[in-house]
Amino acid sequence: MSTLKKILVNKDKSCKSVWFMRQAGRYLPEFREIRSQNQNFIKLCLNSELSSKITLQPIERFNLDSAIIFSDILMTPYALGQEVKFIKDQGPELSKFNLEIFLDKNEKEFSQKLNEIYKAIEITRKNLNKDKSLIAFIGAPWTLLVYMLNIKKDKNKIDLKKLEKENININKILKKLIDFLCTHIENQINAGADVVQVFDSWAGLIPNDHIKDYCFMPNAKIVEFCKKKKIPNICFPRGLKDKYKEFNQLVNPDGINIDYEIDPQWAKDNLRNVVLQGGLDPKILLKSEKEMIEGATKYIKTFKDIPYVFNLGHGLLPETDPDRVMKLIKFYRNN
Ligand code: CP3
Repeated sequence: MSTLKKILVNKDKSCKSVWFMRQAGRYLPEFREIRSQNQNFIKLCLNSELSSKITLQPIERFNLDSAIIFSDILMTPYALGQEVKFIKDQGPELSKFNLEIFLDKNEKEFSQKLNEIYKAIEITRKNLNKDKSLIAFIGAPWTLLVYMLNIKKDKNKIDLKKLEKENININKILKKLIDFLCTHIENQINAGADVVQVFDSWAGLIPNDHIKDYCFMPNAKIVEFCKKKKIPNICFPRGLKDKYKEFNQLVNPDGINIDYEIDPQWAKDNLRNVVLQGGLDPKILLKSEKEMIEGATKYIKTFKDIPYVFNLGHGLLPETDPDRVMKLIKFYRNN
């Protein structure tokens, strides 16, 4: 059994396991090399040979305990008929959402459009050591909806008025998304992934009076599906602050990734009956080595007597020095 599963499933306190969000990405020269020859990001995600190769790059370099499949949460809106473009330094741009087209989609067509991802998982599983997990992932319904409806105004705000004005039935969209996402999880597990992480990156932007409907309920439905199918699961509801506690109680996932705004001691005291993962600010890898080690020590010490998976509070930044990543992994393993 992989170290990740020993911790997630068996709640093994003494076991160590480390992986990083965005471990396959732009901070790696070997990724930039492939990326420079593949300008279309969606096409790259749909190239099973290259996707598998990129997935394994950080494993080969750092011998991490888990691989996360190289893909993107926006492959779901892509498979549901929206055009997805990644504009340099601007982030993703999706073509206009059409409710009729969306409601008309069926699961067979959806799965077919993502078939290369499942092939990439098959290839990766064959080339990955048995003691390592292969992590599948999805974007949580709310976070996908933010991109699909293009309602993010700037870094930290959403345009709820736009939704109200256009009278968009959010709950109806979320409900259909949950079904497709469960299919996407099941397809990835059938292809050989053994853990799933649910990224709710924009959970922190939901107004208080909608948090149950837009965040807790959709995540709970997905976790319920995973539990029914015995799929080890980790949720990452980024930006929820003290509502992480209610999230954990209502959604009840196997694991929960804390973001870097969450104090580790607070997490230990308040997030019970769940495996904790992550927390360390990715920006700390850009600071002095001493600061990085001090930052990491805080997490390692706080969580030394409970089941904990070492990771970050968000993805590795493109400007990160890979040698620093190596030093951080070594420090964690030796302490
Ligand atoms: O973690 C991994 O190594 C696996 C692959 C992975 C990617 N995206 C590859 C990627 C995962 C798990 C994601 C998740 C993802 N994608 C999230 C959730 C996590 C988070 O960051 O909050 C979100 C919100 C997205 C959407 C997305 N994809 C954005 C906003 C961007 C552009 C800006 C950015 O941060 O790069 C992407 C592109 C993307 N996805 C890249 C990679 C390696 C960069 C592509 C490039 O080379 O330009």
